[in-house]
Amino acid sequence: MKSRAATDYEYLVARTGRDSADRMVALGYIEPDDPRGPQDSSFKREAKSSSSQPRLVTKDAIRSRRMNRLPHPLPYQGSKRSLAPQIAPMVPRNVACWYEPFAGSAALTLWAASENVASRYVIADSLGPLAQLWTEIIERPDEVSARYRSVWEAQERSGSDYFNRVRERYNDHLDPVDLMYLVCRCVKNAVRFNAAGKFTQSVDKRRLGMRPEKMQAAVFGASHLLKGKTEVRVGDWLKTTADAKVADFIYMDPPYLGTTVGRDKRYASQLALVSLIGGLESLLARNVRFILSYDGMTGGKTYGDPLPQRLGLEHLHLDAGRSSQATLVGRDDRTIESLYLSPGLASPAPGTPSQTSFSFALAS
Ligand SMILES: C[S@@+](CC[C@H](N)C(=O)[O-])C[C@H]1O[C@@H](n2cnc3c(N)ncnc32)[C@H](O)[C@@H]1O
Repeated sequence: MKSRAATDYEYLVARTGRDSADRMVALGYIEPDDPRGPQDSSFKREAKSSSSQPRLVTKDAIRSRRMNRLPHPLPYQGSKRSLAPQIAPMVPRNVACWYEPFAGSAALTLWAASENVASRYVIADSLGPLAQLWTEIIERPDEVSARYRSVWEAQERSGSDYFNRVRERYNDHLDPVDLMYLVCRCVKNAVRFNAAGKFTQSVDKRRLGMRPEKMQAAVFGASHLLKGKTEVRVGDWLKTTADAKVADFIYMDPPYLGTTVGRDKRYASQLALVSLIGGLESLLARNVRFILSYDGMTGGKTYGDPLPQRLGLEHLHLDAGRSSQATLVGRDDRTIESLYLSPGLASPAPGTPSQTSFSFALAS
């Protein structure tokens, strides 16, 4: 008689049903034939906890694994991938349409799609080639992966100014795959644009950028999650979310005031605070639910004032870890980011497992 499931797949079938286990395979979280045991990292702890009866895989454990293994084809600095576990417990379920109008690497949308949070998804960005890249990733993953491979491999046989030539070519022709290569290969994956919208960041000489095999897996994974249910839009967020309704939900991560004022512009377009507040007022008047990541503080330095209290938003602070900007200049500051919740979106009650395991803190 078999005392325990021989593979992760069998284990999940027994615990969560065949549909759910098949989804875990499709998303690449488990291999169907991987035996449970020492070489099986994903469920090793559960298997170890008892020789005959594996411990139940908890929801929190599965959620953190899922976050870490989600495809992430655009390693954007400022991606919300690492903050997703802290934001996830506050996101409503059974959403009709999920919007991410400041998409960047669309990290939260990839998480939402993996959790079936919504029936449909809209990802949008004012940077045209980035929005176009998302269309290509979702609709034509094979072509994007092949083109990325050829741009990436060419660097091995080209001179040291190869990155600069691709950057020049991108600035002239705005090819989305050139942008993908530049994001992957530039310093700290930190995109920078000048006032004319030209990509200006330099090459990171210590790394070659994401390898083509890894990129291919990430591109196909993202396409798998989003194809058939996602619309990509390009333009200002007010326009791309104009049709959002009560049953919908918007996750917003605009350029922060701290990256918008001053000489060094992080993104191709900036966002004035008045326009942001006006847009939030419009969403509130339409009863559209939203979560907004906005500004915060690093090493005691605060970026921007809190949003006006009259908006009636719940204001939380999330620990975003070490600041990569500070790391660049040799400091070890922590970044705290603000999260604003529209009325009616409940933050986890103090002492709940989510709060404990995601080190969530209420703003003072
Ligand atoms: C902080 S990044 C978003 C990062 C994203 N949350 C992620 O996980 O990668 C902000 C994005 O907003 C875009 N953006 C800037 N101004 C915008 C506007 N007015 N409307 C729409 N998108 C805008 C930028 O091109 C950039 O990709």
